[in-house]
Amino acid sequence: MECDIKDQGLAEEGKLRIEWAEREMPVLRLIRERFEKEKPLAGVTIGACLHVTTETANLMRTLKAGGANAALCASNPLSTQDDVAASLVKDYGIPVFAINAENSETYYQHINQLLDMNPQITMDDGADLISTLHSERQDQCADVVGGTEETTTGVIRLKSMAAQGVLRFPVIAVNDACTKHFFDNRYGTGQSTIDGILRATNTLIAGKNFVVCGYGWCGRGIAMRAKGMGASVIVTEVDPLKALEAIMDGFRVMPGVEASSIADIMVTVTGDINVIDGPHFKNMKDGAIVCNTGHFNVEINIDALKDLSKSVRQVRKFVEEYTQADGRKTYILAEGRLVNLSAAEGHPAAVMDMSFANQALAAELMNAKGKGFEKAVHGVPESIDMEIARLKLAAMGIDIDTLTAEQEKYLASWEMGT
Ligand code: ADE
Repeated sequence: MECDIKDQGLAEEGKLRIEWAEREMPVLRLIRERFEKEKPLAGVTIGACLHVTTETANLMRTLKAGGANAALCASNPLSTQDDVAASLVKDYGIPVFAINAENSETYYQHINQLLDMNPQITMDDGADLISTLHSERQDQCADVVGGTEETTTGVIRLKSMAAQGVLRFPVIAVNDACTKHFFDNRYGTGQSTIDGILRATNTLIAGKNFVVCGYGWCGRGIAMRAKGMGASVIVTEVDPLKALEAIMDGFRVMPGVEASSIADIMVTVTGDINVIDGPHFKNMKDGAIVCNTGHFNVEINIDALKDLSKSVRQVRKFVEEYTQADGRKTYILAEGRLVNLSAAEGHPAAVMDMSFANQALAAELMNAKGKGFEKAVHGVPESIDMEIARLKLAAMGIDIDTLTAEQEKYLASWEMGT
């Protein structure tokens, strides 16, 4: 089987960890069991460009159970778990092209190796696969029925392609499902970002000034969890509505440059470039910890910090110490790449269960109906979203109420008032 991974000898540990994650992915398991019987993806080649984690491994198993020829490459050079890649190849017969800490050239070589398999369905986390198809391998686009996209940043890129009229096949924005962004972005990023910071630094959160740049679903989750651990949380925003929401959620809001002068820990999660830049670094206290948990490593302008610094050294795994000209030290985690997937293991399985249930069902839908879809970015149908929520509740053993006939009638009527 074609593949490019670090070492097949790591498979045993990878398999154990994949099985460990599977325990907390009951919705995906139910889908896998149905896929095994119904084979809704029989013969379809699916090329997935996702973080190579234990949770992704369980998604790949599900796609394969549905009859797909599923193959995987990384959606980020630092998030690949080499033992998982090894087990996928050795134990599950799934081709993987991903090696942790691969350079940019190898990262794109792996994307191209995946595309050499001529996928009919693409699965992206950040839209690098679709972007490569549309820029370098346009001839292949005609063979693609459609794609799916996991994350906010990818959906923004795809919507921009659709708006410019260059998107050559339909894509389902998995991120836009409520069972994805309400949970994965908020509780997943909230927990895994703190996890990444702690594993990298072992710093105490309580009593610290913890600055969250960006108050989207991910920022909300991080702010909530940092507050829960006793930090004094400050939010920076450019959107007045989100800024208001942050204030009413109990956080201080101020401009980023002002926040940088009091920050002990500063995290970016905006999806935009140079959110922490030279003026912020000039302002920072000695010992400030700076990291990013947004999709791309563009949010922190590390070059600006380099220009201000007289020396750099690695002081712990995932921690680089920059000494500025006046002796102040600034600590950058995971080279400004997503700290939750670089220094920790990404979101816990219980939350990826819902995200990847959406991916599996979106792939099934795209395979069944994609040929009739407009070349645009489509939402996940509400019926799928609701079904995933129902299955998750059932797996958690939680019952909820149902509307009575009288209540249904009332909700459908307009005549009844005061
Ligand atoms: N994105 C965030 N966390 C993840 C995980 N555990 N697996 C795959 N993609 C992720």
